[in-house]
Amino acid sequence: MTKISMTVDGIQYEDDVDPRTLLVHHLRDRLGKVGTVVGCDTSNCGACTVLLAGKGVKSCTVLAVQADGMDVTTVEGLSGPDGTLHPVQQAFHNSHALQCGFCTPGMIMAAVDLLSENPSPTTDEVREGLEGNLCRCTGYQNIVRAVQDAAATMHATAPPTAEAAEPASTTEANAQEVPR
Ligand code: FES
Ligand code: FES
Repeated sequence: MTKISMTVDGIQYEDDVDPRTLLVHHLRDRLGKVGTVVGCDTSNCGACTVLLAGKGVKSCTVLAVQADGMDVTTVEGLSGPDGTLHPVQQAFHNSHALQCGFCTPGMIMAAVDLLSENPSPTTDEVREGLEGNLCRCTGYQNIVRAVQDAAATMHATAPPTAEAAEPASTTEANAQEVPR
């Protein structure tokens, strides 16, 4: 077992993990972050996408030990403390950008990652940016619309010097040991 420490959705966790444990399984099985889902386990679907140090990754392709010392943001960490949805979450809701919802956590996290790099993507750029995330239900049209709506909202609400939304950071003060 290997001792690791990582910050997930603003809370620091320390745990002993099997070095073979995938990050997605650590998040779900040890930390209870079941908003992050496993659609394929073969790095094809993108349903497991999270932000690792602010960058979108498929968490079934990352070992938990590789996230040691890093910040992880899951779909559960996007909303504000009062429950206010992140603009991407709100836009998915407004645009009916989901049907069964299985792809949605990963799709939203990939969209957040995309908008952090390209705050005003064209339709083609949204499609290209989300090409690693598969949806079996929607035909993608409403997803693309939602991402562009979210971009517009984020533009309208961002202060002039603000950068795209960053995942919440954490302090040592709220560190907690994962219960056995
Ligand atoms: S579960 Fe990770 S890409 Fe499908
Ligand atoms: S909404 Fe069902 S897979 Fe995307």
